[in-house]
Amino acid sequence: MHAQALKWMFDGIWDRSERYLARPVSDGEPILEARNVTVKFGEIVAVNNVSVSVRRGEILAIIGPNGAGKTSLLNVISGFYKPLSGRIIFKGMDITRMPPHKRVKLGLSRTFQHSQLFMGMSVLDNIMVGLFPWRKAGVLSFSLWLPWARKWEEYAREKAEYLIDLLELHEYRYHIVGSLSPGLQKRVDLARALVQDPEVVLMDEPMAGLTREEKEDLARAIIEVHETHGTTFVLVEHDLEVVMDIANRVIVMDSGRVIAEGRPEEVARDERVIQAYVGL
Ligand SMILES: Nc1ncnc2c1ncn2[C@@H]1O[C@H](COP(=O)(O)OP(=O)(O)O)[C@@H](O)[C@H]1O
Ligand SMILES: [Mg+2]
Repeated sequence: MHAQALKWMFDGIWDRSERYLARPVSDGEPILEARNVTVKFGEIVAVNNVSVSVRRGEILAIIGPNGAGKTSLLNVISGFYKPLSGRIIFKGMDITRMPPHKRVKLGLSRTFQHSQLFMGMSVLDNIMVGLFPWRKAGVLSFSLWLPWARKWEEYAREKAEYLIDLLELHEYRYHIVGSLSPGLQKRVDLARALVQDPEVVLMDEPMAGLTREEKEDLARAIIEVHETHGTTFVLVEHDLEVVMDIANRVIVMDSGRVIAEGRPEEVARDERVIQAYVGL
């Protein structure tokens, strides 16, 4: 590997570890904004001139019926889709054209609706690999023959162990991810997003397919991370009960537009929201 690339990699690690220790407290300032975002698929307008502002330190839920445009909006924010028009601003920077892995480096991570974990690898290895989203598993063999890369491995292991502790995954540390229940897989997925030390975590329907008990465990894990690290969460979520339990604020989308916004209890009473959900 090129020396310059290695330097950049290690700089990245130490930068992040510093942020890890000195996390800014929640101040309610906007940390992330979508401004007038439009996404089209052929003739379908999936997201129609949507503006959303995410405040630092909040748990924001985006709800709405199927096809409302929630996933499309999240994909524009994480960089997987390019919007037809509009901008994404993160920590004051215009990141509209920035590729996903660079957004991750800046502190904007996501989990996936359909888990992208390495099913044949252990929980610990899956979390450690999260430090190198651009190299995938190759980095593990690479660390065997570069002596000073062991330092990285030590660091990654320490961080992974911290997250295993935080998300109560000790028992499963050496279990193969493919053998775990969906609820545990979601917790591993969250741990993997956190190893990159994000300031904002985007989650697309994290509760989908989980039992009531698994949902409660995952909700508790999210709250734990939020409270100990002040991490900002943006959750697209179908389960209204979960949303009412954990969100500080809710945005409701329908047919590509934002139709309501407010505290969970306000939104639940909103006539337009009830209408949109009655259509389900
Ligand atoms: N990759 C795609 N290609 C074509 N149409 C898409 C694609 N993704 C989403 N859509 C369409 O865009 C609209 C919004 O979808 P989506 O963002 O997935 O909504 P939600 O997540 O709220 O269910 C839907 O009409 C959907 O069929
Ligand atoms: Mg969706």
